[in-house]
Amino acid sequence: MKKWMMLLSAAVIFVLIACQHEKPVPPLSNIPIKSYNCSSDTIYFQNDILPILVSNCAMSGCHDKDSHQDGVILTDYVAIMESDIVDRWDAYDSELQEVLTESGDDQMPPLPSSPLPTNTIEAIRNWINQGAINNQCMECDTTQFTFGQGIYPLLERNCLGCHGAGSSDGDFSNYPNIVDNIGTIWTRVSNNEMPPQPVGVGLPDCEKTIIQKWIEAGTPNN
Ligand code: HEC
Repeated sequence: MKKWMMLLSAAVIFVLIACQHEKPVPPLSNIPIKSYNCSSDTIYFQNDILPILVSNCAMSGCHDKDSHQDGVILTDYVAIMESDIVDRWDAYDSELQEVLTESGDDQMPPLPSSPLPTNTIEAIRNWINQGAINNQCMECDTTQFTFGQGIYPLLERNCLGCHGAGSSDGDFSNYPNIVDNIGTIWTRVSNNEMPPQPVGVGLPDCEKTIIQKWIEAGTPNN
């Protein structure tokens, strides 16, 4: 093939791909995309949507992993998206929002349960129309760096799943252990090695700042 033909076909392919991907489609993953701080215009899956689906739909006999009525599992992000009931950016084409607004035999949650509140359904609709992303927002206040309010909740959220009491990888579940290991903790955190997933991403800057400020303050038990 001549060089100009190769360039031309490369350009055509590029345009085709670019057109198909006008909107970003992040891969399905149960690891949420975190942001700081919460925007009132955005619906966050982990904060606003998942708790509703888990508490109203994902019980035994309904849409948990074992029961999966109609092949629908509503326990986590990947399961929900793989249940094929959400059409990203298009709530009105999404079975999830459709069944919530149905009445009679088709309504979800089924009779004799009441339908979900209108503002809840509206939130689900907006989440889908915003791309049905696995997002999560958290307040992150870098002035809040006491052990009790800043450090412990941060470790609990990000680390203790693997570093809980008795963990052979390092038990960071109490103040003395955390202080004893603060040097390595800081090294691993500042190098983006911990938490290990997603690889190389590490904690958001805001959370690193909280840890750093607490270390600079002399790791007080406050
Ligand atoms: C998904 C599980 C997981 C999470 C979440 C996680 N870690 Fe780890 N961590 C490990 C494993 C496994 C090791 C041991 C292997 C290694 O050293 O890389 C480890 C090792 C470490 C070590 C070295 C321990 C030692 O004794 O040398 C430190 C320090 C550490 N992690 C800190 C953290 C901090 C701080 C967080 C949260 C911000 C965190 N980790 C989150 C799995 C995890």
